[in-house]
Amino acid sequence: MGSLKRALRFLFQRVEYSFDAFFGPALNPFVNLGSLGWFFYWIVAASGVYLYIFFDTGMVQAYDSIEQITNVQWYAGGVMRSLHRYASDALVVVIILHLVREFSLDRLRGKRWFAWFTGVPLLWFIYACGISGYWMVWDMLAQYIAIVTTEWLDTLPLFGESIASNFLNNASITGRFFTLMVFIHIAIPLFMLFLMWLHIQRLDNARVNPPRALAAGTLISMIVMSLIFPAVSQPPANLDVVPAVVNFDWFYLAIYPLLDVVPGGQLWLAMGAGTLLLILMPWLPPQRNKPPAVVNLDNCNGCRRCVDDCPYSAITMGARTDGALFDGQAVVNASNCVACGICAGACPTATPFRRATDLVPGIELPNFSIASLKEKILESTAQLQGADRVLVIGCENARQVSSSAEPDVGVVTVPCIGMLPPSFIDFVLSRNVADGVFINGCREGDCFNRLGAQWMRQRLAGQRDPYLRRRVPRERIHLCWLGNGRKKRRSRELAAFRVLLRDLAVSNDNGGGKAGG
Ligand code: HEM
Ligand code: SF4
Ligand code: SF4
Repeated sequence: MGSLKRALRFLFQRVEYSFDAFFGPALNPFVNLGSLGWFFYWIVAASGVYLYIFFDTGMVQAYDSIEQITNVQWYAGGVMRSLHRYASDALVVVIILHLVREFSLDRLRGKRWFAWFTGVPLLWFIYACGISGYWMVWDMLAQYIAIVTTEWLDTLPLFGESIASNFLNNASITGRFFTLMVFIHIAIPLFMLFLMWLHIQRLDNARVNPPRALAAGTLISMIVMSLIFPAVSQPPANLDVVPAVVNFDWFYLAIYPLLDVVPGGQLWLAMGAGTLLLILMPWLPPQRNKPPAVVNLDNCNGCRRCVDDCPYSAITMGARTDGALFDGQAVVNASNCVACGICAGACPTATPFRRATDLVPGIELPNFSIASLKEKILESTAQLQGADRVLVIGCENARQVSSSAEPDVGVVTVPCIGMLPPSFIDFVLSRNVADGVFINGCREGDCFNRLGAQWMRQRLAGQRDPYLRRRVPRERIHLCWLGNGRKKRRSRELAAFRVLLRDLAVSNDNGGGKAGG
């Protein structure tokens, strides 16, 4: 399983870095797959409501009303129909990519199982919704789908009588399944919305909206495509002839041709087994959970910063249990905590300027305390020499600079870059522990712990508490958001940073003084 994930990750990296060159890291569709899923869902829903206003639900009239919408109102209804079709196809593509990408990044195991677990049924609903949509047009393709689907359903030992017999010829048709399809096609998306909401319940600040430029660009391209290649119907259904299907939609119907060669019962079995395997994926193999964050009440003043910054909704404010006069206290829900340490980076009491014996913040990881972070920093920098001593503080999920390959560089790795309280940067530079601090986090928009890199950037820019004090010389800090697979570029950035530090030293020697010191 591990090697499959690594291979897929490598593949995604290659493709994504080439997309970066065109879109830039923030607008890269690959880092916005979940939010693009939401976006396409809303396009499908809005265009569907429009179509339903003009749609005639009668078995015979359905085809005519759709022809009317497509041809007479080509500039409005026609575009809506095409948007409905293309956004549904795009939804399948982004969600399959989303699934494979989350799998490759291993963002599903341990305490993170919930989003994956709730995502799997969404796949079934997306397909059921798309297939029932094709049925509603009641053209040759719909006829093909109706016959093949009902024959396939007949292979399940669920229904007393054959449902395919409803579609033997025009005379046998009752319209009952047609009405059922209309109901299914409206009820499923409503239930999907509930599941999509559930899907992100354990994620704080979930990105449900893609960046505006990406959304606008996507919508405009779809409208243009709808005008150039409008979605059209096939000839009307006629159960007295065998349907000749053209323009097959492979996004939704890829499995149908398989039914010509694989018996329906076996295909159900394969799909059931595949679904079960997908559901079990978060526990294959089970992950050893790291101990969750702990609250030290003596140092918690109830400021809520950890609640706001935790990406996994693992902290709430509870009533004070120690009689202190603060408004509340942080309470960790251990079953949600993935031990990323971001809460410790947010806590105002996590500051290295306090004496080491007192260095117990309001919240921290038991197996990576803030006191031990200070020790590691001091240890890794103790032997550095020269005017370009660099302390690299990097996230364990982004490939690190190797201290053995780089002389006079100390490296400290943290579970997430968001765990680093900005006061540590101040400490390193003001106490002259190193000449520069090189922050190495995951690629922009792609933090393994979702929000750690974003909070770090905002803290350093003074947009989020706890922010980096103004006195800290910004030119002695380098932010490197490269993640994995960018070894050469990371080394180049580090080398350039060290040149800059040497230049600063020369200008200081020439009487410039230490900027901001
Ligand atoms: C309509 C379908 C879906 C939509 C709209 C959707 C949307 C989203 C969104 C918005 C996020 C949060 C991204 C963030 O802010 O970090 C997310 C996360 C996630 N989704 Fe989906 N998703 C869908 C289907 C699926 C499916 C089918 C799977 C896999 C079976 C899946 C697995 C995940 C996982 C593992 C995460 C990350 C959880 C974490 O970071 O701990 N999703 N999804
Ligand atoms: S950030 Fe620290 S002080 Fe503030 S509520 Fe959380 S644990 Fe308490
Ligand atoms: S370590 Fe802190 S920020 Fe991370 S999941 Fe646990 S409680 Fe939330």
